[in-house]
Amino acid sequence: MVASARTEPRGSMAMELTIGDPTLMARLERGMDASEERLRALAAEARDPYVAEVAGHLFGRGGKRLRPLLALVGAEFGERRPERRPERRPAAADPSAAGASATGTAATDAPAAVDAAALAELVHVASLFHDDVMDQGLTRRGVPSVNARWGNTTAVLAGNWLLSKAAQLAAELGPETIRLQSKVTNRLIMGQIRELVGPSDDDDPLSHYFTVVAGKTAALIAMALQLGAVRTGAPDRVVQALAEYGEHLGIAFQISDDILDVTSTSEVSGKEQGKDLAIGVASLPVLLALADERPEAGELRALLTAATATTEGTGLPKAVALLHRCGALAEARTVLHARLLRARTALNGLPDGPATQVLHALCDFVARRDH
Ligand code: IPE
Ligand code: MG
Ligand code: MG
Repeated sequence: MVASARTEPRGSMAMELTIGDPTLMARLERGMDASEERLRALAAEARDPYVAEVAGHLFGRGGKRLRPLLALVGAEFGERRPERRPERRPAAADPSAAGASATGTAATDAPAAVDAAALAELVHVASLFHDDVMDQGLTRRGVPSVNARWGNTTAVLAGNWLLSKAAQLAAELGPETIRLQSKVTNRLIMGQIRELVGPSDDDDPLSHYFTVVAGKTAALIAMALQLGAVRTGAPDRVVQALAEYGEHLGIAFQISDDILDVTSTSEVSGKEQGKDLAIGVASLPVLLALADERPEAGELRALLTAATATTEGTGLPKAVALLHRCGALAEARTVLHARLLRARTALNGLPDGPATQVLHALCDFVARRDH
């Protein structure tokens, strides 16, 4: 097994995984570099220095780059038959002309896989621009967020610009890609709106939470895998199994994010600690702490209602200690691990091989990310 030596917080996730097949590892790294290159080229297409700078602000800033990685891994399940490029593309960029299979290179070396990776990251970065406006996030990937640097209006418009580029790219790639991309963008935005609005009096807060995270996080994670697989000609049952895995992994990933909001420092996460607590986002540990009449619930409610968690210095450590003490963090970890089990079960529908092992390794990664 090749164990990664990289431990710095904002490196690509591929570098942090334990991947047993060095050829696959090298191919994924090449794909990640190529998709990063593709993103920079897409931002430069703005032909306006201001738009190009703002839109490209988070490209090349590290980040886990989970979604592009998943698109590349999804493409490993294809039969090395990337979709034909439209005729207006230069012949050299046409994968069928380049003959990805004829040269014996695997699917992730195909432009189709790189396009899928770039598309998933475009939608993700757009959602981060918007999310940081919603959450008043000041730091992202270790640098000032777009809203912190250029203001909310620019952040919203630049996020829209990225979504428009994603739509353009999808249109170049074909109807199936448009179908996936538009459906997922819709689910993502609905998830964010539902989070903003909160549960109605009739809603169970926990069911509401799972609907929110399925939309805002899991949909895109599942799409990245599906897109990579569809674009390289994977069979339908494989695409379905990948989608199911992605939905569960995505929910688990968001739960780990919720836990890290409470427990992880900004040096490690590249974001501010305790943001959910400070702005009243109903993260899973908080929901669990408030769900039954624990003795600590009243105290936590008071802390959160007064919004003192981060603004007055002592609030955050108090809320963190309380979430530990009442068992809510431990319970959130149990829910996370149960979700990972469901993700792993979905992998039973996939052929055994190095790419499936990467998906297991991702479950291990998310399991390790819970503190
Ligand atoms: C993440 O929501 C979902 C999207 C970016 C759409 P969060 O608000 O929990 O994410 P972080 O913690 O700011 O990354
Ligand atoms: Mg946020
Ligand atoms: Mg948010």
